[in-house]
Amino acid sequence: MAINKKTMQAKKKTAVKATKSTPVKKAVAKKVTQPAKQKQVEEEMLLQALRGMRDILPDEQPYWERARRVLTHAATEYGFSRIDLPTVEFAHLYLRSIGDGTDIIDKEMYLFNTRGGDKVALRPEMTAGLCRAYIEHGMGVLPKPIKLFSTGPVFRYDRPQEGRYREHYQANFDMFGESDAILDAQTVQLAFRVVQQLGLKNIEFQVNSIGTPETRKDYEKALVRYLESQKQKLCLKCRERLLANPMRILDCKEDKCIQLTAHAPQSLDYLDPDSREHFKKFLEYLDELELPYSINTRLVRGLDYYTRTVFEIRSTDKDGKNYSLGGGGRYDRLIEGLGGESTPAIGFALGLDRIVLEMKRTQVKPYHPPQPKVFLAQLGEMAKKKSLRLFSDLEKNGVLLAESFGRGSLKSQLRVANRLGVEITIIIGQKEALDETAIIKDMISGTQETVTQEKLVESVKKLLKANQVLTIKDGPRENRFSAADQEDED
Ligand code: HAM
Repeated sequence: MAINKKTMQAKKKTAVKATKSTPVKKAVAKKVTQPAKQKQVEEEMLLQALRGMRDILPDEQPYWERARRVLTHAATEYGFSRIDLPTVEFAHLYLRSIGDGTDIIDKEMYLFNTRGGDKVALRPEMTAGLCRAYIEHGMGVLPKPIKLFSTGPVFRYDRPQEGRYREHYQANFDMFGESDAILDAQTVQLAFRVVQQLGLKNIEFQVNSIGTPETRKDYEKALVRYLESQKQKLCLKCRERLLANPMRILDCKEDKCIQLTAHAPQSLDYLDPDSREHFKKFLEYLDELELPYSINTRLVRGLDYYTRTVFEIRSTDKDGKNYSLGGGGRYDRLIEGLGGESTPAIGFALGLDRIVLEMKRTQVKPYHPPQPKVFLAQLGEMAKKKSLRLFSDLEKNGVLLAESFGRGSLKSQLRVANRLGVEITIIIGQKEALDETAIIKDMISGTQETVTQEKLVESVKKLLKANQVLTIKDGPRENRFSAADQEDED
């Protein structure tokens, strides 16, 4: 039975009562203040995942597997080294890098104190952790650019809905040590290559430049001046943002705020000459690559560490959800801000849950694992024992094979073999187990031969090769092992 959503839904909300007893306190020799009384506490245990978190069941894995393969292939092709980071870090790492007034810091972090009293957080993103690791391991001495690829779960306590989860998966590509605009274009090129290889169409890149923290001050003043006079029309949250972090108002999803900021001053008009030149070069490189992009002057991204280039990857399909499949930008000041040496950096993250949703929506083919061409069937206790070793011999020699060791009847095993559409079935019965032989049945021609177990690997490989040659010459061959044959064998 395939394990899928439906199967699981049947189990939904299975609640069981668990009885937990409170630990009995050790009685201290002199002063026994508490009677050693066992208190029964009844607790309801809900057998379901937490809201906004979910199991990715075997049914869905072929899409994830395709994504994983494309990502690791792209990382290798573009010279990225893999790095795995902890899921939990000191909370102040995020507080210092992501910025007050951002949704992540204000309301989405999973914060808690450890038993040792450390204030920690489940990572709400990976860039801060990456920079921490870069500084901690002195990566600055390595030849530049240092390219790092990381993937795994991140946690944001947001309002869950389709495409928005409290635990979601990201793949991050980041480059450290170079500030040239060509790296910005190369980053977008890589992101585009990945979404293309994933089979996604109708993808657009939105780009913008938000300059440096110094020039941003002038921009923020202009933005506040513009919005101050119409403050009453902003949502409550944005009225607070006006004081704490005005640029985040451009991120607000409330209609009234979107309308109000439609004609707000734009960061591009406040860029310093170097940032302006950087952006101009970046666009020239993108034009050269003929990548589909548009300038979105409202794009500021929801994290405070970005400088200059920011971008987002969006599906432009009108039937699709209008959410970002990925995003990133430059963060030239972050490493320095965290106490490292001044190091320019650029990167992006793809939201894998959304990528998979988009793959399914646009009917992209999932990954198909190679299918076994050989089945190993056994009959009787002695044959069963021998089969375990033979399976291992074949598998170690590169033969992809299937079995059904748990089944005793040959008929039911052959039914499995037939369903799998294998080319060869190896049969070990009582006699073969005693003689140290095996029957090799060619499921395509219907012929069979008996070989010694010593020669089994060699004979199977020879037959597979011969079948392959025939397939290439004559086109696909059919498995002619019929249901009637199975009856005979029983
Ligand atoms: P971000 O835009 O916050 O960037 O997240 C990256 C991607 O993660 C988003 O574009 C989206 O596809 C996905 N995502 C975000 N929140 C959720 C959610 N609640 N459920 C499902 N998917 C979600 C960053 O995290 C930056 N650290 C990216 C970066 C890397 N910048 C430089 N290097």
